[in-house]
Amino acid sequence: MTTDPARRLGLGALVHGSGGQLDFAFHADLARTLERGRFDALFVADADADAVTAQEHEHSSTEHFSTEHSRTEPSRTERFEPLTLLAALSLVTERIGLAATAATTYNHPFHIARKFASLDHISGGRAGWNVVISEHELLHRQSDEFVQVVKALWDSFDDDAVVRDKESGRYYDPAGLHTPHHRGEHFTVRGPLNISRPPQGHPVIFQAGSSETGREFAVRHGEVVFVEEQELGAAQDFYADIKARAAGQGRDPAHVLVWPRLTPYGSPERIADHIETWFHARAADGFHLAFLELPGSAEEFVDHVVPLLQRRGLLRTEYEGTTLRENLGLPRPAVRARHLQETGR
Ligand SMILES: Cc1cc2nc3c(=O)[nH]c(=O)nc-3n(C[C@H](O)[C@H](O)[C@H](O)COP(=O)(O)O)c2cc1C
Repeated sequence: MTTDPARRLGLGALVHGSGGQLDFAFHADLARTLERGRFDALFVADADADAVTAQEHEHSSTEHFSTEHSRTEPSRTERFEPLTLLAALSLVTERIGLAATAATTYNHPFHIARKFASLDHISGGRAGWNVVISEHELLHRQSDEFVQVVKALWDSFDDDAVVRDKESGRYYDPAGLHTPHHRGEHFTVRGPLNISRPPQGHPVIFQAGSSETGREFAVRHGEVVFVEEQELGAAQDFYADIKARAAGQGRDPAHVLVWPRLTPYGSPERIADHIETWFHARAADGFHLAFLELPGSAEEFVDHVVPLLQRRGLLRTEYEGTTLRENLGLPRPAVRARHLQETGR
């Protein structure tokens, strides 16, 4: 049984699935359903070019991106650009976190920092970035540099640096500006970012590393770590491994949340039992739900499983805060741009 009263069950939902891919009303209804079920976040998965990504993921541990799926399911070949969709969803929801996949391979750190900072402002602090990287060792180093630059750009301004003071004519306080001048192995980036610090400081970082290098990357930057493990013992091992690696990096293991996949089927009681067992057995801090059919099985989960979890005292009945970070119980990062500037990393 859990001895840590601060531990709270997290719930996320993958929203790619059957039907309605280019139907905004479908996504809006689904997001509101998940919010009614007090989900922490919904995720929009992504692939830049379907054929390419399908090939890349042929040997991957996840089946979501296989070539076969891309041929048979429209959701793999046709979809909204995730950040555009999430910006729109932020207007029809109030509390649910909005996370999108963006790869470090096909983007530039400045654009990623800017887009997620914008989503965080538009949504009032509900943005999350699922960092997808290639399995190659070199690309892990590149991704590490990428994420460091993105964080430095988010820290371009102190939280209170942008004053917009009409009377004095001052837009920002120069003392609060930390322009990252980055010259690294893979990127040269000159800041500052052209938007003030995101409400969350940094949007929440999600990661799904499972290989050796993937796990190392996940515990360096990830705040929620997805895992596909379906067997309790293996999930407990993964959980313990991630927490130990996080501690080894000098991070508080409580701030690196492990979320295995859950595909709900069977009776609501069985599903709730599974969640309760895994949560208490420290195989999971939360779950990312892969619904078999949308929106139907998400609605069933919210109407029948969520009330059971709430009755058992496992799940919130109201959101704790207004930002994704607050709801996940994660700390708000302090500005650290100076460090990057000074060390020239
Ligand atoms: C829940 C979940 C969501 C994922 N979403 C994406 C995605 O949107 N796009 C993508 O290219 N890969 C996605 N992946 C694949 C992972 O980024 C990663 O490649 C995989 O977990 C293998 O980990 P490794 O890099 O440590 O081998 C996802 C994986 C999981 C478990």
